[in-house]
Amino acid sequence: MTSSEIRKKFLEFFRERGHAVVPSSSLLPDDPSVLLTTAGMQQFKKYYTGEVDAMKDFGSLSTTSCQKSFRTSDIDEVGDESHLTFFEMLGNFSFGGYFKKESIAWAHEFITKVMGLPISYVTIYEGSDTVPKDEESRAMWQGLGITDIREEGMEDLFWGPTGHEGPCGPTTEIYCRNANGQDIEVWNIVFNQFFCSGSREDLTSGAATLIPLETPGIDTGMGLERLAMIVQGKHTIHETDLFSDSIAMLSDTMDHRSKRIVADHARALCFLIADGVRPSNKERGYILRRLMRRIIVIEHTAGEQRINLVRDLIPVIIGKYHAPYPELHIDTIFDEWDKEKQKFLKTVKNGLKELQKCATIDASTAFKLYESYGLPYEIIKEMGVERASALSRAGFELEFQKHQEISRAGVLKKFGGHGLLLDTGELKATNEDELKIVTRLHTATHLLQQALREVLGPEVAQAGSDITVERTRFDFSFHRKLTDDERKAVENRVNEIIKKDLPMQFVELPIEDAKNTGALYYFKEKYPEKVNVYFAGSSLDSAFSKEFCGGPHVTHTGEIGHFAIAKEEACSAGVRRIRAVVG
Ligand code: SER
Repeated sequence: MTSSEIRKKFLEFFRERGHAVVPSSSLLPDDPSVLLTTAGMQQFKKYYTGEVDAMKDFGSLSTTSCQKSFRTSDIDEVGDESHLTFFEMLGNFSFGGYFKKESIAWAHEFITKVMGLPISYVTIYEGSDTVPKDEESRAMWQGLGITDIREEGMEDLFWGPTGHEGPCGPTTEIYCRNANGQDIEVWNIVFNQFFCSGSREDLTSGAATLIPLETPGIDTGMGLERLAMIVQGKHTIHETDLFSDSIAMLSDTMDHRSKRIVADHARALCFLIADGVRPSNKERGYILRRLMRRIIVIEHTAGEQRINLVRDLIPVIIGKYHAPYPELHIDTIFDEWDKEKQKFLKTVKNGLKELQKCATIDASTAFKLYESYGLPYEIIKEMGVERASALSRAGFELEFQKHQEISRAGVLKKFGGHGLLLDTGELKATNEDELKIVTRLHTATHLLQQALREVLGPEVAQAGSDITVERTRFDFSFHRKLTDDERKAVENRVNEIIKKDLPMQFVELPIEDAKNTGALYYFKEKYPEKVNVYFAGSSLDSAFSKEFCGGPHVTHTGEIGHFAIAKEEACSAGVRRIRAVVG
């Protein structure tokens, strides 16, 4: 059975059982507290809490999807037999419709009858102080003839929430045997019974509470790659039809690990670019850059004749996926790939030469290579091999942190009156009067970003910002020119917030709490243990905009005066540039 047949059979199975088939949402989630979509349930969060009505939107209380997903947590593991960054997740969802009985019976039927796979064993939640042992699921599995039922706790069998709060609950999982004789988890069925008032970390630490949802829901997730591996009787996901063409194309002289990394990262970058991510030094852009740079190095070291490895691979990947995912445009993907490769190749050549000269590579050497040549940690570790055996990510990050502290101190010194009065990299001012103007422009830039996200959607993410006394220049990811109406709407929204004269305030919060506020922040920036979250509004919860920021800002939005967009234009593929002024 091909993977595209599995995809179809899954959606068809649940459509026949009253589910609305919903297309995958973007890899860029609606929820600003989550960097990328990691699960099928994310686009449905609001249906579980009853904020929106599934019946109205889908004509049903249940849906099914095959969701594009991306998990960064295992990025360093990619290259082994089972880890991936991008993957597809099959799922069925119920928002107050059916519950345990049907979801378990259907999962059992799909696995054993439609896929024809025996179930090795299942797991059920063992119970805790707040959530009882899941005897109901046990009885249902027993009723279906399953005898090996194992109990596990909170860590493995309690799912969610994603982001800073949300639906969550105990789960039951199905394990099947692969060609190597190992039992692996294929399907996770979540009983969304609670709303968690905080993040997963808060839940574990006891800082968050579980509030029973009015109507319990179902959220299931099954990785397509894993299922295909078992159905197709393969030893690894890379032998399935989802990867076999890509792997076959890669050089015979290349080791398994490198081939798997290239196959995973090339596929992932196609999907990230198609959803509007562009390589940069922060957040999603940094994730993309890291994937691209890692395989540029592999390509480069594979030898001259393999120098177009990835470029040759991209059409193969798109060929495999363009039917279910027509957003994969080859020109855009080629364009971004070529630009990033050109930019990085120069750096890599010099950096690798330098790396080869080092006898041993410890954290401080690694940091110097990073600082002078832009070689990322992964590449130093990868190319350093034995000479870098003592190098750890933790050690490298410590060096990074030390450096950040030194450069922060450097910025403050400039306030002392030498040269620029203010130079944060983003803001520049030479005297007090200029400082006042750039401060107004700076707050306006925060409002602009939020207004753009409201009008154009969450695809908008900051790609760059530069503020001088004349104007603010804001770059953001978005795939087309703004219409006149959109441009006007953004301008009006910013001016509306200015008129409201909202207080611009900040709170200093421990980093994790700050992230949980939903404030925008730079993914890769090394923040100190406590950060300032600047927000426009009377409280953090009701704020119009929230960002991690070092200031300076006005004290009330009214001080900005009138805001106007002077120009909106393309900056690079998928990135727009706005110049705006205040008067
Ligand atoms: N949300 C759950 C998961 O990601 C089930 O879909 O595993």
